[in-house]
Amino acid sequence: MSRRIFLFDTTLRDGEQAPGFTMTPEGKLQIAHQLARLRVDVIEAGFPASSPGDFASVSQIAREVRGPVIAGLARANQRDIEAVARAVAPAERPRIHTFIATSPIHMEKKLRMRPEQVVQQVREMVAYAAAFGMEVEFSAEDATRSDPRFLAEVFTVAARAGATVLNVPDTVGYTTPKELYDLFRFLIEHVDAPGPVAFSCHNHDDLGLAVANTLAAIEAGATQVEGTINGIGERAGNAALEEVVMALRTRRDQFAFTTDINAKELHRTSRLLEHVTGIGVQPNKAIVGANAFAHESGIHQDGVLKDRQTYEIMRPEDVGVPESALVLGKHSGRAAFRDRLRKLGYDLSDADLEKAFARFKDLADRKKQIADADLEAIVGEGQQLADDGPIRLLSFQVVTGSNANPIATVTITEEGGGAPVTRAEAATGDGPVDALFRAFDRAARFRGHLAHYALKAVTDGKDALGEVIVRVRAGNRVATGRGTSTDVLEASVRAYTAAVNKLRREGHGDAAQDDVRENLG
Ligand code: KIV
Ligand code: ZN
Repeated sequence: MSRRIFLFDTTLRDGEQAPGFTMTPEGKLQIAHQLARLRVDVIEAGFPASSPGDFASVSQIAREVRGPVIAGLARANQRDIEAVARAVAPAERPRIHTFIATSPIHMEKKLRMRPEQVVQQVREMVAYAAAFGMEVEFSAEDATRSDPRFLAEVFTVAARAGATVLNVPDTVGYTTPKELYDLFRFLIEHVDAPGPVAFSCHNHDDLGLAVANTLAAIEAGATQVEGTINGIGERAGNAALEEVVMALRTRRDQFAFTTDINAKELHRTSRLLEHVTGIGVQPNKAIVGANAFAHESGIHQDGVLKDRQTYEIMRPEDVGVPESALVLGKHSGRAAFRDRLRKLGYDLSDADLEKAFARFKDLADRKKQIADADLEAIVGEGQQLADDGPIRLLSFQVVTGSNANPIATVTITEEGGGAPVTRAEAATGDGPVDALFRAFDRAARFRGHLAHYALKAVTDGKDALGEVIVRVRAGNRVATGRGTSTDVLEASVRAYTAAVNKLRREGHGDAAQDDVRENLG
């Protein structure tokens, strides 16, 4: 008999927490719907007490997404717990996930609490959460650097107060497979719960061991595993769920465990997340990287042609990698466009569909055949809200050449309190992109710093769509922008506009306001 493993996805909470991975509420909702199609068991939709925006987003997901349990994170205090209870209440199966640290260093230095105070807090706050009549999960933060005996005591108290899921986070990515295996065996034996409880693991990847540690925890008896799509998350990220799922499937001979995951949705989920966050996975990323199923060397290609299994332990179709198909062109209409997007897993609102269709027509004028990857890039750019103000790019021009200093002119309009203002500025730079961004900064009165710039061709061919991803920093905020166009300079300035707009909407990077603040001292 194989044991069922429950998948707890925290892409929208631990994943979104990482710098540069901020998602819009619409993006989060799309990801949540896709996670439901992937059939994860639990979606941790956010941390409702952290901001009104997060609260609204968790409640929207709880209202609209059906299938998985919807959880929200809370520190072990009444305010946080109550916020989660209110936010997840509309879900089919709501869950309150509350946590407190249990390692000596966290208790002493961060919480400034004695161990017995932590135990008391766990008793009171888990009971408080359970009184809302929802499932309660309790996490002992930094569990892997905690005293196992103390951990067993804390988990016993949590279970007696009403928690039915006990989570053992490797918060700092410190543990090893053997050590975590032993810890789970110890806890399963020593936690004295009044009824059935699920033991859960939550591994960070600081030493690159998150997936290996997760598999060790499962072998030791964990029945819930936490992780994220593409392994995104704090610092080096969390265990990548697609890797855990495919390791369990591909090595059934080693792991007698099953999940309910529809693995054919893994590729699509990964791509959607890339589009929503604007951050791509590295080409050699296991399962979902562009090269994960590519055979480059002659010897490998020869082997695969003779028998795929010579070099393939999984088939691309097992994880839903689509056959590359040239699908649409200049004469394709709205219905065909919508239909193809649906097949790719995108169900856009009428307004978003119109915007995407306009971009599609624009692209079809420049490029004969539009591939699925082009469509995904177009929709992905929509996620970055390049055109959803306050700044709108009206036009740009760049003059460059082998013996000339690049010079760019940018014209934008900006909406503020009153009527929109139009501004045009010019700048020179080290290269055409530099000149373009400098001219944009002047026109938009933007003060910030380009932290990352990446350009790739979406498909093969000289007429390929170029996709640019930028990360822009203003003060301590980082925003990501994505732009696509057959003209790489246009893609660049669209990506930059999207990122600056995100920062502006949050009130960052406004040079005029910064100057006023500085003058006020
Ligand atoms: O890594 C961690 O400890 C966490 C907990 C809040 C579960 O994310
Ligand atoms: Zn974490």
